[in-house]
Amino acid sequence: MMNRKEFIEYVAMAGTTAMIIPNLAKANLFGTGTQSKLRIGVIGCGSVSGMYLPHLTKSPFVEVVSVCDIKPDRAKARAEEFKVPNNYDHIDKMLAGADFDLFVNLTDMQEHGRLNKEAILKGKHVWSEKPLANSYKEGNELLQLSEKQNVRLWGAPAVVNSPQFAFMAKRINEGKLGKIAAAHGRYGHLGPHWSAFFYEKLGGSLPDLGVYNLTTLSGLLGPVKSVMAMTNILTPERTVDDKGTIKVEAEDNASVLMEHYSGALSHVMSGFNYFDPYGHEGSGQDKPTVSIIGTRGAMHLIGYDWKPFAVEMATLENEASQKFATDTGDYVWEEGASVVSKAILENYEPLINVEHSLHVLEIIEAARKSQRTGKRIQLKSKFPYPVIK
Ligand SMILES: NC(=O)c1ccc[n+]([C@@H]2O[C@H](COP(=O)([O-])OP(=O)(O)OC[C@H]3O[C@@H](n4cnc5c(N)ncnc54)[C@H](O)[C@@H]3O)[C@@H](O)[C@H]2O)c1
Repeated sequence: MMNRKEFIEYVAMAGTTAMIIPNLAKANLFGTGTQSKLRIGVIGCGSVSGMYLPHLTKSPFVEVVSVCDIKPDRAKARAEEFKVPNNYDHIDKMLAGADFDLFVNLTDMQEHGRLNKEAILKGKHVWSEKPLANSYKEGNELLQLSEKQNVRLWGAPAVVNSPQFAFMAKRINEGKLGKIAAAHGRYGHLGPHWSAFFYEKLGGSLPDLGVYNLTTLSGLLGPVKSVMAMTNILTPERTVDDKGTIKVEAEDNASVLMEHYSGALSHVMSGFNYFDPYGHEGSGQDKPTVSIIGTRGAMHLIGYDWKPFAVEMATLENEASQKFATDTGDYVWEEGASVVSKAILENYEPLINVEHSLHVLEIIEAARKSQRTGKRIQLKSKFPYPVIK
């Protein structure tokens, strides 16, 4: 992993410093090195908090100080379960209560931008579940605000941290596959049953599920220049635990075509209507879900990119497909907040990058615009690439 100095040198070398990460030029954005644990406040005590809290409360870099949920019973129950000293029923109470350093946002997708902004204004670093804002514009404004406030902002997913992503990125960088022509990713299931927000306006399968493959493919093949997409609603009504029968407003079926600056054309499919024998947890999923094809070789990621097991690769030199990167190491998909906590404390730049998250957010918006207009949409944003040198 690069330290901050190496990162700045790399960015400068790429000639894109101003565009990429201007706040790195400022001093003292990271921890002073005197604090041994980063203090965390978690907002949103629903389903995913059941994955985050066991991980965070075991992390040596982190102390979970507070939990918060507008459903107060949920915050109380999580506080009890994970021995968190403070629980609140409103963000304002949490921000005014016990002091902490990193705001971890696990609320409904539609709430992220607004809550992240409140936390940044109160001088907190932010780790947000995806998407970190509801639009590219709002996300960019949050980034600028975080720079002004001298705090850091990051968003899920953490897929670039897996050893399998690293393996694929390194083989691509060293030209093992030749010139990359095409890539494909797919991720779907039958849709969450517990909360309506997944199906309401600004929800949808793209920010919930497509976001993983979009991050993986842009992370491997580089920034995207233009997007064309088709999205639709295949199941117009759903019954969910919190609101009963609801009208589906956001796309539950999406197919996105991307043209990367490298010339590669990639494709991502995501949806809430996919036959899924592996369940929401992805248990037992050991089939390829991401493929990269070049002039001299091809690679397939085994398992979901958020929970990968191996990479199959065949090349001109070795045409029989072989399995590589079968060690999953310490990587778990719910590790983002503890990974950035360690980076803050130890003063280095993690692989997860906010410009990359914003780029993916712009792709999602472009996909929706392409569906609305029937046109190919040009993107503005970029991010530091390659993600792994
Ligand atoms: N469930 C998963 O396995 C999973 C996995 C990865 C990422 N995510 C992401 O995590 C986020 C949350 O998903 P979830 O499945 O846990 O949803 P959920 O509905 O189970 O939980 C969300 C919680 O946030 C609370 N909340 C909403 N608005 C709030 C506010 N303004 N202040 C305080 N609390 C508020 C809700 O009361 C609820 O308890 C989403 O962005 C989702 O995409 C979920």
